[in-house]
Amino acid sequence: MDFQLKTLSTAQAANEKCDALIVLVAAGITPSKDAIATSIAEARKAGDLPDKAGKLLALYRPAGVAAPRVVLASVGDGKPVSVRTGVLAAVNAVKSGDPKRVLIVFAQAADVVGLRSAVTAAADASYVYTATKSKPEPRSIRQLGFGVTEAGPLREAFDQVTATVAGIELAKEWGNRPGNHCTPSLLADAARKLAALPRVKCEVLGPKEVEKLGMGAFSAVAQGSAEPLRFIVLRYQGGSKDEAPVVLVGKGITFDTGGVSLKPAAEMDEMKFDMCGAASVLGVFRALGDIQPALNVVGLIPTCENMNDGRALKPGDVVTSMSGQTIEVLNTDAEGRLILCDALNYAKRFDPAAVIDIATLTGACVVALGGVRSGLFASDDALAAALEAAGEEAQDRCWRMPLDEDYAEGLKSNFADVANIAGRAGGAVTAAKFLQRFAGDFTWAHLDIAGTAWKSGAAKGATGRPVGLLLSYLLEQARKSAGKAAPRKARKSTKSRSAT
Ligand code: BES
Ligand code: MN
Ligand code: ZN
Repeated sequence: MDFQLKTLSTAQAANEKCDALIVLVAAGITPSKDAIATSIAEARKAGDLPDKAGKLLALYRPAGVAAPRVVLASVGDGKPVSVRTGVLAAVNAVKSGDPKRVLIVFAQAADVVGLRSAVTAAADASYVYTATKSKPEPRSIRQLGFGVTEAGPLREAFDQVTATVAGIELAKEWGNRPGNHCTPSLLADAARKLAALPRVKCEVLGPKEVEKLGMGAFSAVAQGSAEPLRFIVLRYQGGSKDEAPVVLVGKGITFDTGGVSLKPAAEMDEMKFDMCGAASVLGVFRALGDIQPALNVVGLIPTCENMNDGRALKPGDVVTSMSGQTIEVLNTDAEGRLILCDALNYAKRFDPAAVIDIATLTGACVVALGGVRSGLFASDDALAAALEAAGEEAQDRCWRMPLDEDYAEGLKSNFADVANIAGRAGGAVTAAKFLQRFAGDFTWAHLDIAGTAWKSGAAKGATGRPVGLLLSYLLEQARKSAGKAAPRKARKSTKSRSAT
C-alpha cells in the first residue's frame, strides 16, 4: 500500500485527482465556503448528514470536485474511536466501486491521535487476503492519501503509523494462512526475511538444538507432528549493546488439533490462528526495522504443530522443562503453556528489562473478555500500567486480570512438580499462573489474545492484534530511555527517526 500525507484544505482536496474522496466531518464544525464545504453545510442543515459517527452521505460527480465519487463521513465527536467508525464505514462504502486511489481528508484540524486512527482504520478496511486464492484479485485500493490542514507536525506520527500498519498486515497475512501454508519452517523463513531490515538479526533452531537446550516441554508438544519444530530468535538492536532488551515471546502453534485430548470438529479450522502471537512478534519486528527506535528488542517464537499420532504426547505423560521443573500433561490441548514455559526460561539469558508473552492461550479468556479486550496478566504494576496505556493509545485495548496465588492451587500434581491444567474455573488465570512459575524473577506480562487475534463468522480472519499495542509500548520505552540517557551520537541510518 502506498500511503501519502498531504497538506490540504477541503477546497484544495476538491482539485485532487483520485478515484474516491472521503471527507471526514466532525460535529459542530463551521466549514468554509468551497464546493465540498458547502455540500457539508447544506447536508447538515437538511438533516442528511447526522452527527453520529459512521453516518455517510455519498455524492456522485458533485460540481467543482475532481473526484467522481465523494463520501461525506461523520466522525461524531472526533475522538479516535469515532474517527475509526467513520473511516471504516466510508472505506467499506467506496470499496465496491473498485477505486485505486482513495483520498481521505479531514474537514477540521487533525491531531496525531485522529490521524493515527484514520490510517489504521483505512488500512484495516482495505486489507485483502490473497495468498491461497487461485486468481489473486489485485488489491483494489493501491493508494491511500490523507489530507490534513497542516502535514508538517504530523509527519513523524504518520511515518510511525504506516510502519505499524505494515506490521499489522504482516501479522494478518501469516495469521490467515492455513496450516499447510504456514508450517513452523515457513514461519521461520518469514522471520529470516525480516533480517534484511536494518538492525534486525534472526537465528533459527531446529529439533536437535532445542532438545539439547533441555526444552523438554516444547519438544514434547512437537513430537506428534511430521513437521519439525522451529525456535526462532529475532533481535532488533536500536539501543546500545549493554542496554537490557524487552523480550517478546509469541506462541507459534501453526495448528492445534488438541493432540490426543482432541478438540471437537466444529470450527477446528480456526486453530490455524493459534500462531497469531508469533505473527504479532513478526509484525512488530517488521515495524521496528522501519521506525528504527532507540531500544533493544528480542523476539522468541517457539513454533510447532499440536498433532495426534503414534508418537504424540499422552495425557498423564510427565515432561521435564528447560527450567528443570517436571510437568504432568493432564490435557494435551493445553499445549501453548508447554511451549511458552521453555521459551520464557530461554529469555533469562538476555537479562531482560521486561518479558511479554503473547498467546492465543485459552478459550476461557474468550468467555471472559470476548473479542474486545485482550487479557493482561502482569507481575509488575508499572509494566501493567504501561501496557494498558499503550493499548488505549493504539486502540488495541487490554484488561488486567488477577494473579492471586490461590489460583495456582489447582495446578498441583501427584506425579510432577506441576500439572498443565487446573479445573474449568478461571481457566485464563490458571494458565497465566502456570506461565508465571517459569517467568523467574524478571518483570513479566502475559497477553492472552485468544479472543482478539481473529474474528469468527462471516468476517473470519486475523486482526493483526496486538501489534498496535506492542509497538505503542515499545516506542514509549524508547522515548523514555532517550529522555534518561546522555545525548546519543548521531545515528548512521538516515531512516532513523528516534529522538536523539
Ligand atoms: N489454542 C487454544 C486456546 C483457544 C481456544 C483459543 C479457543 C481460541 C479459541 C489452547 O491451546 C487450548 O486449547 N486451550 C484449552 C486449555 C484447556 C485444555 C485447559 C482451552 O482453552 O480449552
Ligand atoms: Mn490447545
Ligand atoms: Zn493452542
